[in-house]
Amino acid sequence: IKHINKYNDKNVMWHFYRINREDRERLHQHRSMILWFTGLSGSGKSTLASILEEKLYCRGVSTYSLDGDNIRHGLCKDLSFNSNDRSENIRRVGEVARLMVDAGLVVLVALISPYRIDRQIIRDMCIKDSFLEIFVDTPMLICKQRDPKGLYHQVDCKKIKNFTGIDSIYERPKQPDIYLDGRKTISELMNQLLDLVLVKIFK
Ligand code: PPS
Repeated sequence: IKHINKYNDKNVMWHFYRINREDRERLHQHRSMILWFTGLSGSGKSTLASILEEKLYCRGVSTYSLDGDNIRHGLCKDLSFNSNDRSENIRRVGEVARLMVDAGLVVLVALISPYRIDRQIIRDMCIKDSFLEIFVDTPMLICKQRDPKGLYHQVDCKKIKNFTGIDSIYERPKQPDIYLDGRKTISELMNQLLDLVLVKIFK
């Protein structure tokens, strides 16, 4: 309900352009879709998305990546990590990703996106088969050991509150489109991921 347009949308119409998504997909010679990576901080989402994007690029796929940390420097720099702001963060990134899909791109999104309902809303607004939820399931203990940005250490020192998986909830996907066991190596995961994604993109 909070996502419904607050203003009088009776007076705002759709304008249909002559060139549509299918036309742009034909031009790019592949399908456009969202590859949505979700998982704890330090689970490997951004690393996997970045390597996957490079592999797709080398195969001639037109891509763009939307990464939580990066987006929070611009489009979402006004948002905190409380639950409302996280939902708004996901909504905005989802809308941008949807526009990019309309532009004919394969969009890689790496956001913790901790709430099932927010991920479901994005899935529901995409046309069938153009949203793949990729769950990077890395146990908290491993994320803490990796601690690539020193954030878990700061949490232990009580310098950060509302940290996902510690004092802020992470709702695991029940039926992700792709499940990645984050205990495996990056190259093992990439072998698993690349083929699955290529099949969808070049279907
Ligand atoms: S969310 O929950 O989807 O809105 O988060 P996201 O936009 O992906 O941002 C996650 C990155 O922000 C840093 N960070 C935090 N993460 C979780 N909880 C808290 N409180 C927090 N504060 C800062 C952290 O670098 C996350 O990046 P990743 O790549 O996930 O580690």
